[in-house]
Amino acid sequence: MGKCRLALIGFGTVGQGLTQILVEKREQYRSEFGVDLEVVAVSDINRGSVYDPVGLDPRSLLENAGELERLDVPHKGWDAVRTISESNAHAVLEMAYTNLQTGEPGFTHARTALENGKHIVMSNKGPVALHFPALLALAREKGLAIGVEGTVMSGTPALALGTEMLKGAGVSRIEGILNGTTNYILTRMGEGLGYEDALVEAQEKGYAEADPTGDVEGIDAAGKAAILANLVMDLPLGINDVERKGISHLTPEDIAQADAAGEVWKLIGTVEKGATLVAASARVAPKRIPKSHPLAGVHGATNAITFTTDYLGDVTLIGPGAGKLETGYAMIADLLKIGRQRLLPQHETREPVS
Ligand code: HSE
Repeated sequence: MGKCRLALIGFGTVGQGLTQILVEKREQYRSEFGVDLEVVAVSDINRGSVYDPVGLDPRSLLENAGELERLDVPHKGWDAVRTISESNAHAVLEMAYTNLQTGEPGFTHARTALENGKHIVMSNKGPVALHFPALLALAREKGLAIGVEGTVMSGTPALALGTEMLKGAGVSRIEGILNGTTNYILTRMGEGLGYEDALVEAQEKGYAEADPTGDVEGIDAAGKAAILANLVMDLPLGINDVERKGISHLTPEDIAQADAAGEVWKLIGTVEKGATLVAASARVAPKRIPKSHPLAGVHGATNAITFTTDYLGDVTLIGPGAGKLETGYAMIADLLKIGRQRLLPQHETREPVS
């Protein structure tokens, strides 16, 4: 039985989602996958930090999510970097806030984890959109894994499908609805709600980023387009190479006009390979599409992605693109994959260090 000790950096929506899944499924993962996922540390800039080298109770973490340091544990108040470097975790789960300009603090967290011999699993798009090649090189040098499934379409396996199953078929184009918040807003506006009210609902449901400007201006979708371009198509596009327009300018009249014409607005991300690397392009923009178009039926926080390939034609995946359990599950799926690759401890070989 391999025990995989986890340090959670960030205990917001995603951290609490994955902890809830552990409450429900830890035993099942232990018996079915031979991996015992044990949280030993949580460090959150607002909620506090706790570390117990012999394990924290996931239920107690959730009950005290607002003020973690109420828990009776041997170590409290460690910041993220200390938690990553000094705790006895085997894997660090990076779920701090996303910054698509600098990638920080996530990039420092990811690097610190790898430099300290710990696997890194991220839902944070910043470090992946901006620094994936550097992180991958460091992980390879150290013989460690990087999990990034949660950065695109939450737990819906868009990256696994693209990188593991379709890449060899030659992916020439990727197109899809890559942001849950804006798709939710557009769906609710189509049902008659105002833009602001629809945005508040998306925030309440945990879909939006801490600063929803990133969602509504298409920055989040542009980050995902860059991640897809790099990981699935080997195109070295940065987020600033993605042409971008958001949805904040769309009015109820725009929505009504499209509806009257038998169309709906969708925020669509596209990545295209050109004849040469320089000719590759990526963009995010709202588009009016006919109601009969397959993407028109993708509602709410659901995302969809179509990979155009040489041997399979179009392959489309539809599923949740955001949410607490949905993104929490992406972290779990990456950990189970690392377990299958036998990179996690197969036996408990040493006593936890306090
Ligand atoms: N804010 C993002 C979205 C979360 O709405 O899609 C998932 O990346």
